[in-house]
Amino acid sequence: MNERHRYDPVAIWLHWLVAVLVLAQFATGWIWGFFERGSEPRFYLFRTHITLGSAILALALARIGWRLTHRAPPLPQGMSRLQRIAAHAGHGLLYLAILAQPALGLLAISAFGKTLGRWPRDLHNLGAKLILAIVMLHVAAVVWHQFIRRDGLLSRMLPSRLAVRT
Ligand code: HEM
Ligand code: HEM
Repeated sequence: MNERHRYDPVAIWLHWLVAVLVLAQFATGWIWGFFERGSEPRFYLFRTHITLGSAILALALARIGWRLTHRAPPLPQGMSRLQRIAAHAGHGLLYLAILAQPALGLLAISAFGKTLGRWPRDLHNLGAKLILAIVMLHVAAVVWHQFIRRDGLLSRMLPSRLAVRT
């Protein structure tokens, strides 16, 4: 595959690192509720959620900085105008998600929480559902490109030794 049509290695590693951490956030956020209040696993999952979530915020800032200073490959040929708009809008929402969701999480646990009331928590919980829906659409789009359109889109975001040469 032509190097011009691939993401650069930094963009690729940041993408997968953040993707794995986001999945860990869903796991921890939804599993701690099964444990009793005050129990050790619940506390441990909560601590992990806060640590990994804060790492996502830092990585999101690095990622956006990198994206603004490095060119992304052009979308595959032959996509309609609507498909291009959907792809850009979806990616924009995912960037917004990895900034706004940790920010709401931090507001929810910070001292401000006392004066701000419940809204950061409520928005964070709503945000989790919205992000899950967007990530599912994102993965569905990749599957569509890979198996129906067969334009090798996934390879653009894989390290070159894993990418299928086309
Ligand atoms: C298993 C899950 C995932 C798969 C298979 C996947 C796959 C991909 C692929 C193949 C691209 C490249 C699209 C292109 O070439 O134009 C991409 C881009 C992107 N992905 Fe994912 N992704 C996953 C999860 C996530 C998650 C969890 C997030 C963030 C919450 C995310 C955020 C993004 C963003 C923001 C882009 C656009 C990159 C840019 O153009 O700057 N992805 N993803
Ligand atoms: C992209 C990053 C994050 C994702 C995807 C995420 C996801 C989630 C999910 C799925 C839940 C459970 C929601 C529910 O019960 O319905 C949750 C709850 C929570 N998260 Fe996060 N989270 C992220 C970052 C953070 C950060 C950085 C913090 C704190 C510094 C945080 C603090 C919390 C808190 C306090 C709750 C419990 C809210 C409540 O009491 O209802 N999260 N998060």
